[in-house]
Amino acid sequence: MPELLRADGIGKRYGGVHALRNASLALSAGEAHALVGENGAGKSTLARIVAGSVRPDAGRILIDGKPASIRNPLEAQRLMFLLCSVETILPRSRRAGAGAGALTRRKQ
Ligand SMILES: Nc1ncnc2c1ncn2[C@@H]1O[C@H](COP(=O)(O)OP(=O)(O)OP(=O)(O)O)[C@@H](O)[C@H]1O
Ligand SMILES: [Mg+2]
Repeated sequence: MPELLRADGIGKRYGGVHALRNASLALSAGEAHALVGENGAGKSTLARIVAGSVRPDAGRILIDGKPASIRNPLEAQRLMFLLCSVETILPRSRRAGAGAGALTRRKQ
């Protein structure tokens, strides 16, 4: 399958916090991926960078094999990416426990 997206060597700092250090990701057509890691591992930051809402400090993104500059979410959407948080569309939090009935807090 053709490679749609490649993120190479992505780095992002927030002040003294290294949210991402040399992170890479490659997605091909027809694939489904799960980004798994402990709290604070940088999953959301990587997703936001691909979706154009956060600018990386280092690294490059290739779309269809060509270097792409994703400067904002609109550009990402034009190029193909729309970040949909799963927690946004789940109607109820299973983690909240039976009977709690709490809506899942929206996370971006
Ligand atoms: N806007 C921000 N300002 C300052 N620090 C941030 C910001 N966003 C993320 N961080 C920090 O960057 C690191 C990575 O955070 P990120 O939210 O990407 O992790 P995560 O893997 O999505 O975590 P979680 O599983 O809790 O959602 C954490 O140390 C976090 O505190
Ligand atoms: Mg997160």
